[in-house]
Amino acid sequence: MNGQSLSVRDAILQRRSIKNFNGQPVERETLLAVLEDAKWAPNHGNREPWRMVVACDMELKELHTVLRDFGVAKWKELSEDELTKQMKKFTSAGAYAFVVVKEDVRQKERLEDYAATSSYIQNAQLLAWDLGIGACWKTPPFIDAPKFREALGINPGERIISMLQFGYYDEMPKAKPRKAVEDFITFFGSN
Ligand SMILES: Cc1cc2nc3c(=O)[nH]c(=O)nc-3n(C[C@H](O)[C@H](O)[C@H](O)COP(=O)(O)O)c2cc1C
Repeated sequence: MNGQSLSVRDAILQRRSIKNFNGQPVERETLLAVLEDAKWAPNHGNREPWRMVVACDMELKELHTVLRDFGVAKWKELSEDELTKQMKKFTSAGAYAFVVVKEDVRQKERLEDYAATSSYIQNAQLLAWDLGIGACWKTPPFIDAPKFREALGINPGERIISMLQFGYYDEMPKAKPRKAVEDFITFFGSN
């Protein structure tokens, strides 16, 4: 790192979801700076509909136990060996933010809040990337499991929309091809 920020375009084009973290912890200060800056995401009515349950440093050990006991072990039948193997995907991340949105009873507001929080998440991923920290937005099935929610202190009427993992990495994944712009746009009036 040379202390220079990536351009917005470079950050968007270069960021990849990191699924192989190298186990190095993410410093609390750095994580908080990312989560602080990401709040400048657009959100309707300034509702700032997100909140996060964060784990880094000393919180990680207990989180790993929760992920194991109320998450991975309940998710599918696994032998002890398979469970240990699966857990590596979780223990190698250097920090976590479980991103929580209030589920507004009004459909429009609920969708807006989900959309705004998604912008927040992408901001956080890009900001982290700029600092040499990878991220992956994950939605494992257990994020909706009652015991898991309870362990994280999620209230009724709230939903975890992302298990956002952060961490350092040694290998950069290859980008999967994306469609050309002509394949997903039509010009107004041409249909
Ligand atoms: C809403 C959402 C849910 C995702 N859930 C998972 C997941 O559960 N597990 C996973 O490995 N990746 C998950 N991803 C990451 C995608 O797999 C990844 O973004 C996609 O492969 C494109 O790769 P890129 O981000 O490197 O461009 C999710 C991404 C989004 C936006």
